[in-house]
Amino acid sequence: MMWPKRLLVVGADGALGRAACAHFSALGATVIGTTRRRNSDHHFLDLTVPASWEILPEVDAVVICAGVTSIVDCAQDPARAMQVNVRGTVGLAWQMAAQGAFVLYLSSNQVFDGSIARRGRDSAPCPVSEYGRNKALAEAGMRHLIDRNTGAVLRLTKVMTPGTAIIQSWRRDLKAGRRIGPFSNLPLAPISVDFALETIETILSDRQSGVFHASSHEDSSYLSLAHVVAEHDGADPGLIRPIEAVPGSIGFDSMPRFSSLDMQVEMSEFDLQPPSAKDVFRSVLAA
Ligand SMILES: NC(=O)c1ccc[n+]([C@@H]2O[C@H](COP(=O)([O-])OP(=O)(O)OC[C@H]3O[C@@H](n4cnc5c(N)ncnc54)[C@H](OP(=O)(O)O)[C@@H]3O)[C@@H](O)[C@H]2O)c1
Repeated sequence: MMWPKRLLVVGADGALGRAACAHFSALGATVIGTTRRRNSDHHFLDLTVPASWEILPEVDAVVICAGVTSIVDCAQDPARAMQVNVRGTVGLAWQMAAQGAFVLYLSSNQVFDGSIARRGRDSAPCPVSEYGRNKALAEAGMRHLIDRNTGAVLRLTKVMTPGTAIIQSWRRDLKAGRRIGPFSNLPLAPISVDFALETIETILSDRQSGVFHASSHEDSSYLSLAHVVAEHDGADPGLIRPIEAVPGSIGFDSMPRFSSLDMQVEMSEFDLQPPSAKDVFRSVLAA
């Protein structure tokens, strides 16, 4: 990989940030990760402390992976979520662009209301959660950089890893013969962390400005995931007792019906093929 030679990964302790540090280091880039933990080898950066991102290392590109990422946490403390996910994030993005870096911001399918499957990139954002509203505002803050070809937004659907908490707790419970209660009415268009990284790498190495998507081909559900987990682990499917999610209790104003995003551009221009949801479930369980 020729470019970026020097990459800043903001939020190196998070699931995607950690994976991005390892991925781009393995490709030969010099990777500088940021952390908000004292006593770490990473560069200190707290999005609530502007002074911590006023002086940053000179790099070719930055991937912003930091944020308050729990939909429930954003709903419970909207002021903090706004500070981190919007003010801090956009301020940092502009600062890095002013230093000459290409800025890639990781957004989410949650900028949409989930009323349409495979939502197109040009649809106007219509979020139904505080988290989604934060992401939509941060995307709007990135528009200036996109217009100047110095930045991009990548909307990800749910990124699954073997460590994804819900999978781990279901496996534990099923193994112990305990019932699990997956949501029957919460959609899921999962992608693997490897697919997310492949998309990030493509955008960065081509310095592609614009709004991009990484999504599975079709929507599935947490209930389907539970059945794949039970089948994979040889557990009794009778232990699966689906429940209905109540929007307010999980941080939504209303329940989304879909979460998939359209990937026509990524397929035709970058040769990225959206995976099937079941393949993603199986690959994560097999890992
Ligand atoms: N994972 C997904 O399924 C998914 C899907 C769509 C979009 N995304 C987006 O992709 C990005 C990465 O997601 P992720 O799953 O890797 O998130 P994550 O595991 O929750 O990691 C978020 C990181 O942000 C850091 N952070 C939180 N508040 C901060 C602050 N005030 N200043 C600096 N850093 C702060 C956290 O630090 P600590 O470790 O110290 O808490 C953590 O390392 C996020 O923007 C997320 O919205 C993720």
